Amino acid sequence: MSLNSQPADADVALFGNRFVTQEVPSREFPETGIPAEDALRLVSEDLALEGDPARNLATFVTTWMEPQAQQIIAANLHRNFIDHAEYPRTAEIEQRCIRMLADLFHAPGETTGARTQGSSEAIMLGGLSLKWNWRKRREAAGAATSSPNLVFGGDVHVVWEKFCRYFDVEPRIVPLQPGKYTIGPDDVQAHIDENTIGVAAVLGTTFTGHKDDIVGINDLLLRIKRERDLDVPLHVDAASGGSSGPSSTRTPSGISGSNRSARSMSPGTSSDWSIRASAG
Ligand SMILES: Cc1ncc(COP(=O)(O)O)c(C=O)c1O
Repeated sequence: MSLNSQPADADVALFGNRFVTQEVPSREFPETGIPAEDALRLVSEDLALEGDPARNLATFVTTWMEPQAQQIIAANLHRNFIDHAEYPRTAEIEQRCIRMLADLFHAPGETTGARTQGSSEAIMLGGLSLKWNWRKRREAAGAATSSPNLVFGGDVHVVWEKFCRYFDVEPRIVPLQPGKYTIGPDDVQAHIDENTIGVAAVLGTTFTGHKDDIVGINDLLLRIKRERDLDVPLHVDAASGGSSGPSSTRTPSGISGSNRSARSMSPGTSSDWSIRASAG
């Protein structure tokens, strides 16, 4: 039966929504469309069954942001942001944010970066940058590039394991111990070799909010560079601690973070970022 056929319209008149008496399409693509108002009611009623984000105390994800932020997002939904030629001011605003965040983290020299849809995307970009820079260094030295590995603790968000799986990198995961939920230089040292594309450390873990010993790991990597001539960069995953605990170390080669978990933006609003420093 067509979704626009008589009985359905009668249902709409009677109940305000035809899906009170008719099955909601969820598998087959319907033969005919539905009015925008019905679509709005249908989705709204489905979502009403869900938990209320404002009452979800089990997450650090921001549930409120300023109406002005919502206003500017809604007013620009029609802008194809990625078309920088057509929308150069939007691209410039993004770059301003990247430059200011790089300054906040004391990044030396030129920096590059991008806003992303979430910290997972930011970490994929950061991880790829680690891998490609490692490959470039290895190729320049005439060395093999077939077995990259990445070192991180068991306290990281699952996205780091995903990165390794998607992009063919061996994960070297430092196990946590009873009562010890973060990692430091002594934990990572044994795992580092010439195929290590980088070390990932967390500023505010997803599970407990603790931070890895970023200063200690950074010092270790500098020492390895001096003593073994191995350039192993550090990526700080600052998804939840980025805005509240700016790094006082040498700026890591990469940092990614999230405004949505730093309680300033709602999730999924392109409010996360990935930044890479050229030096340091
Ligand atoms: C430390 C950490 N890294 C990465 C992520 C992934 O962030 P997203 O959900 O925005 O992709 C999270 C999310 O909770 C996180 O806590």
